[in-house]
Amino acid sequence: MSISLIVGGGGFIGYSLVEVLLQRGSRVVVVDNWSRGSKDNLTPIIRRYADQITFETGDVSNFQNNLALLDAINKRGHISEVWHLAANSDISAGVEDCSIDLKDTFMTTYALLQAMKVLKIPILNFASSSAVYGDMGDLLISESSGPLLPISNYGAMKLASEALISAAAEAYLERANIFRFPNVVGTPATHGVIYDFIDRLKINQTVLRVKGDGTQKKSYLHVSDLVKAMIALSDRSLSAGQKLSLTNIGPIDDGVTVRWIAERVVERVNPNAKIIFGLGNRGWVGDVPQFRYSTDLIRSYGWRPSLGSHEAVILAINQIANQFDF
Ligand SMILES: NC(=O)c1ccc[n+]([C@@H]2O[C@H](COP(=O)([O-])OP(=O)(O)OC[C@H]3O[C@@H](n4cnc5c(N)ncnc54)[C@H](O)[C@@H]3O)[C@@H](O)[C@H]2O)c1
Repeated sequence: MSISLIVGGGGFIGYSLVEVLLQRGSRVVVVDNWSRGSKDNLTPIIRRYADQITFETGDVSNFQNNLALLDAINKRGHISEVWHLAANSDISAGVEDCSIDLKDTFMTTYALLQAMKVLKIPILNFASSSAVYGDMGDLLISESSGPLLPISNYGAMKLASEALISAAAEAYLERANIFRFPNVVGTPATHGVIYDFIDRLKINQTVLRVKGDGTQKKSYLHVSDLVKAMIALSDRSLSAGQKLSLTNIGPIDDGVTVRWIAERVVERVNPNAKIIFGLGNRGWVGDVPQFRYSTDLIRSYGWRPSLGSHEAVILAINQIANQFDF
C-alpha cells in the first residue's frame, strides 16, 4: 500500500494537511522531531483515523538518519510521495542565529532529497514561502517576479531549497511541486501574528504592545483553504504530467494591516485593552512591510479560496481565542 509521508506534520499546517489526506483515504506517516510541533495537535484526528496514521520521531536534517528512517518506513509499505513542511517557523530567531535556518529550513530539504534519491521516492511537495521574494514594495508579485533577494535567513534558505528541488526534478525526481504560501492563519496555532497578540493579552489583558507602527500590510489565507489548494495543485501536476511546478497560493485581495488585526484581536479578547504601537513599518529585522501577491496562475486552474484575508483573520482570531480559553 502506498504511503504519504508528511515531514513536519506535527506542526500547525501539518494538522490540516494530514486531516484532509486521511479524509481522502490516504495512508499517512508523520515524521517530526517535535521541536515546534506536538503529537497532541493531532490527537483529535488520531482517534478518528487510527488505522490510517502512524508517527515517527526523527530530525530530518541528517541524511543518514533519513535514509535509515525512510528505508524502514518503505519496507512497511511504499512511500509514494513526501510532503515537506519541516522548517524553522521563528523567522526573527533565524535572523539572530543563521544556523537555525541552515539546519531546519535548508538541510531538511537537502537531506530529504538525498534519501529520496537513494530510495527512489518519486514525488516531493514542498512548502515554500512568499519570503523568497524579499521586499518588493508595492509590486504585485507573480511567480516570475525577480530578482529574488530574500531579506531573512529563512527566506534565503527557502529559496536555496527551491533551487535544490529544481535540480533534483531534473536529475531524479519524477515530480516536484513548490508552493509559495502567504501568511497562513487558523488552528492549532503555535506562532504567527494573531497567536502572538492573543498570547501577550493572556499575560497582560490591559495592554497590547505591537512590534512596528501597524502599517505592515500582508495577505492572509486560512489554513483550510491552503491545504485544499496544495492538494489540488499536486493532483493537477500529476494529471498534466508536469515535472516541476511552482505556484503562489494566496487570497484574492491586497491583505490587511497589522493595525487592523490588533484592533480586531482586542475587540474579541478585551475591548478595554490599550494598543501601543512601536516605530517604523517593520516588526523585526527580516520582516517584509508589505506584499501584494498575484494569484493569477492558481486562479487560471479554477481554484478560489473560500475566504479573503479579512474573513480568514476574523475566523482565526475566534479560533485562536478559543484555543486560549478567551
Ligand atoms: N505558517 C505560515 O504562515 C507559513 C507561511 C509560509 C510558509 N510556511 C511553511 O509551511 C511549513 C509549515 O509551517 P507551520 O506554520 O506548520 O510551521 P510549524 O513550525 O508549526 O511546523 C513545522 C514542523 O516541522 C517540525 N520540524 C522543524 N525542524 C525539523 C527537523 N529538523 N526535523 C523534523 N521536524 C522538524 C517542527 O517540529 C514542526 O512540527 C513550513 O515549511 C513553513 O516554512 C508557513
